[in-house]
Amino acid sequence: MTNPGDAWRVCGIAGSLREGSFNRALLRAARELAPPNLEIEVFDRLADVPMFNADVEAEGDPEPVTALKRAIDAADGLLLVTPEYNAGVTGPMKNAVDWASRRYDGGAPVLKGKPTAVMGATPGLLGTARAQAHLRTSLANTGAIVMQQPQVHLMRAKERIVDGELVDEDSRKFVTALLEAFADWIGRFRD
Ligand code: FNR
Repeated sequence: MTNPGDAWRVCGIAGSLREGSFNRALLRAARELAPPNLEIEVFDRLADVPMFNADVEAEGDPEPVTALKRAIDAADGLLLVTPEYNAGVTGPMKNAVDWASRRYDGGAPVLKGKPTAVMGATPGLLGTARAQAHLRTSLANTGAIVMQQPQVHLMRAKERIVDGELVDEDSRKFVTALLEAFADWIGRFRD
């Protein structure tokens, strides 16, 4: 936040490349539901980010990787919205975390010390609980400061997200509560 009264700027990333993704829809809903002191800008270029390869990194970050790191670096906080594949995070999400955990512009990695929140949606019944646990474990290794509560595990997403809109009122309240808590969380670490 640059001036008192400004909103915290949050970089939002959904870990699905799918056009009709429930998680991308959940991130769009979060943008709408964000309190006035929190503004979410979506980084929607995970499809362009190549698979992490230390040989490629040694030649210099490819442009989409630089764009990813810059988007996270410029934000006061990071919101990761993760699908669950085979009881873990998706490849694109893990790949983004791996790149972002590396040095940026010769300095510290952008994830280090970054206030971060996690949520996720699935058509199944476990609400991405395992993917979120997996993602939190990886994030702990990066030095990101991850908010642990409240958590949003959006299950049975087909009933709650219709035509790309989060229509379930209870889910909207849970997302709103997470975002309000996240604004406070960011405020603890950024002045
Ligand atoms: C899945 N899906 C899934 N769901 C879940 O709750 N737990 C799981 O372990 C898995 N595993 C899994 C593996 C693979 C390879 C695929 C393709 C799918 C279902 C998954 O949650 C569903 O496809 C979501 O719609 C994916 O998120 P988006 O793309 O809608 O955001």
